[in-house]
Amino acid sequence: METKLLRVEDPKQNPQAIETAAAILRRGGLVAIPTETVYGLGASAFDEQAVVNIYKAKGRPSDNPLIVHIASMETLPTLAREIPSGAYALAEAFWPGPLTMILKKQSSVPSVTTGGLDTVAVRFPSHPVANAIIRESGLPIAAPSANLSGAPSPTNARRCVEDLTGRVDAIVDGGPCQVGLESTVISLAGEIPRLLRPGFVTLEQLCDVLGDVAVDSAVLSKLEEGQSAASPGMKYKHYAPKARVILLDGDDDAFVDYVNRQQGDDIWALAFGHETAALKKPYMVMGDTDQQQAQRLFECLRALDDKGAKVIYARCPHKTGVGMAVYNRIIRASAFTIQKL
Ligand code: TXA
Ligand code: MG
Repeated sequence: METKLLRVEDPKQNPQAIETAAAILRRGGLVAIPTETVYGLGASAFDEQAVVNIYKAKGRPSDNPLIVHIASMETLPTLAREIPSGAYALAEAFWPGPLTMILKKQSSVPSVTTGGLDTVAVRFPSHPVANAIIRESGLPIAAPSANLSGAPSPTNARRCVEDLTGRVDAIVDGGPCQVGLESTVISLAGEIPRLLRPGFVTLEQLCDVLGDVAVDSAVLSKLEEGQSAASPGMKYKHYAPKARVILLDGDDDAFVDYVNRQQGDDIWALAFGHETAALKKPYMVMGDTDQQQAQRLFECLRALDDKGAKVIYARCPHKTGVGMAVYNRIIRASAFTIQKL
C-alpha cells in the first residue's frame, strides 16, 4: 500500500491535510497521528475491520487492547457506562492531556477494540493536530502507539515512517512529541482506582484528585510467571531496541567507573548529561530532569540502534514523579536487567 505523508504544523494553516486524514479514517483506513505523548496509529474505534488492520500493521497480539481517543466530553458516555464521579474529577483536572482512564465499556464498542475485555481505555489528547483530526473525522479513534510491536514508541514522524511505510494509509507529521512517553493509564473499573501504567500525569497528582490510588504490581517490577496482567500490555517485552540494555543503579562516579571498565566493541552509555565529561565510552544524553529523560528516552534508544550499539549501559532514573514513568519503560527496555552499583 502507498503511504501518504501529510505535514501539519498548525491545523488552521493546513486544513486540507486534516480533512485528508479524517476522510481516510472515515472510510476505514489507518493514519499515524501526532499526540502530545507519542505518535498513535489511528483507525475508527467502531470499525471492526479497521481495528483488525491496526493489529496487523503493528504485528500486535490481539489480546492487547487499544486506547480510544476522543475530542469532546460528549463522546465519553457513548464508549463507557457506569462512569464514576472520580472519572469526571480526573477529566476536569487532566483532560485534554496525557491520561487514559479504563472504564466499563458500552456494548456498542467492538470487542476487537478492547482485546476482548469488558472495559474500554479512553483518552482525550491535548495535541492540536490529534484534536483537529479526531473532531473532523467525527469518530472516536482507536490508537496504539505507532511503532511495530515491541519497538520503542515513535516520538517523531521519521520513526513512524521507518516502522510503518507500506503498512498504513497515511502518516501525519506534526513535529516532535512534547511528553515523549505514553499516557498514564488508570483503571476506574474496579473497587479502587489502580495505576496500571505511569506517565506524565504522576501518581502524586492522581492521589491529589482521588485520594488513594493503588499501584499495580507490574508498574515497578516484573510480573511473575503465571501472574495475570491488569493491563495486558505490561506482560509483553516492550520498548526494546535491538541492543542489549543494562540498567546501572548507582551514583555518577559509580556509573562512570563501571562503564569505563567495560571491554568490547560497540558499548555505549545512556547518560543523564552532567556526568559525561569523565566517560571514556561513546554516550548519548537523556537529560538531567525527569521531564527531559521522558522526552528523549525512546528517541535515544532508536538512535543508539542506528549507531550500531550492541550493549547500552543506562543510568537508572528516579522512581517518583515523572521519573516513575521513565523507570517503568527503561526496566522493560532492559528486560529487567538491573545492576546495583
Ligand atoms: O499515550 C498513549 O497512551 C499512546 C497515544 C497514541 O495515545 N497510546 C498508547 O497505546 O500508548 P498502546 O496501545 O501502545 O498502549 C495502551 C496500553 C496497553 O498497555 C494496553 O494493554 C492498555 O493500555 N490497555 C488498553 N485498554 C485496556 C483495558 N481495557 N484494560 C487494561 N489495560 C488496557
Ligand atoms: Mg505501545
